Amino acid sequence: MADITVRKLRFDFADPIDLDMSDEDLGEVLPALGLSMTMPYLEPYLIRTMKVALKSITNPELAADVRHFSQQEGHHYRNHAEFNVKIRDYFDDTTAAELVSIEEALEADYQRFTREKSLRFNVTYAEGFEAMTCAGALAMAEHGLFDPGSTPPGGELWAWHMAEEIEHRTVAFNVFEELVGSYPYRIFIGSWSQYHYLSYIGRFAKCMANALGRPLVRVHRPMQRTAIRRYLKTWNPRYNPAEIDMPQGVEELLTRFSAMAETTR
Ligand SMILES: [Fe+2]
Ligand SMILES: [Fe+2]
Repeated sequence: MADITVRKLRFDFADPIDLDMSDEDLGEVLPALGLSMTMPYLEPYLIRTMKVALKSITNPELAADVRHFSQQEGHHYRNHAEFNVKIRDYFDDTTAAELVSIEEALEADYQRFTREKSLRFNVTYAEGFEAMTCAGALAMAEHGLFDPGSTPPGGELWAWHMAEEIEHRTVAFNVFEELVGSYPYRIFIGSWSQYHYLSYIGRFAKCMANALGRPLVRVHRPMQRTAIRRYLKTWNPRYNPAEIDMPQGVEELLTRFSAMAETTR
């Protein structure tokens, strides 16, 4: 059984959003804000998928991990939904309405996937998303992006969320292995799911960049290179997130968030 703590944390997002920065910094921050915008739709979709998967999971330890996974994701998206109100409020009404229309399109996709796609597809989408996100979170941890003052607008939400993504990194993979277990299918549907998901990040980021009258530049910093290197490892037929060690400092960070939490279980 994985060592997963469910922390009920609520952030207040009192700090105003400040997007007065270089094009290159914006190229990092706007996709992060786009990621936040997807969370109230993506994470409930993962939770719905896991709820259905639980009916077929016979291993009680994995079933317990899945429940903890879903509870963590539930706290993540509730915080992002609060933060997203601030993001929409930062922009004018026209841009806020555009953001809402992208949100509605994403929600419609995920509701359709739950309704019409197979459990096999939905579990593999979940694994594709989790593998990619974990690679990004590991790169952020390695390059000090969890340090106070280093995160994008939204503050500690990012360090907490990404540290918990690392903490529950084995769950979607183990569900995939138990219920699907096909490497070609993981690569085919996993890649498609990443493309689908990232296309929405791009739409959100582009919408915000247009509103700011700024270009959306592709960033090639050491952190991005590490993220790509870690992501490519997920394509290995022997990839198993259980073999990934926690980067330095993440355990301490999780202990600190446990102490900050309203409740833990
Ligand atoms: Fe999450
Ligand atoms: Fe996750």
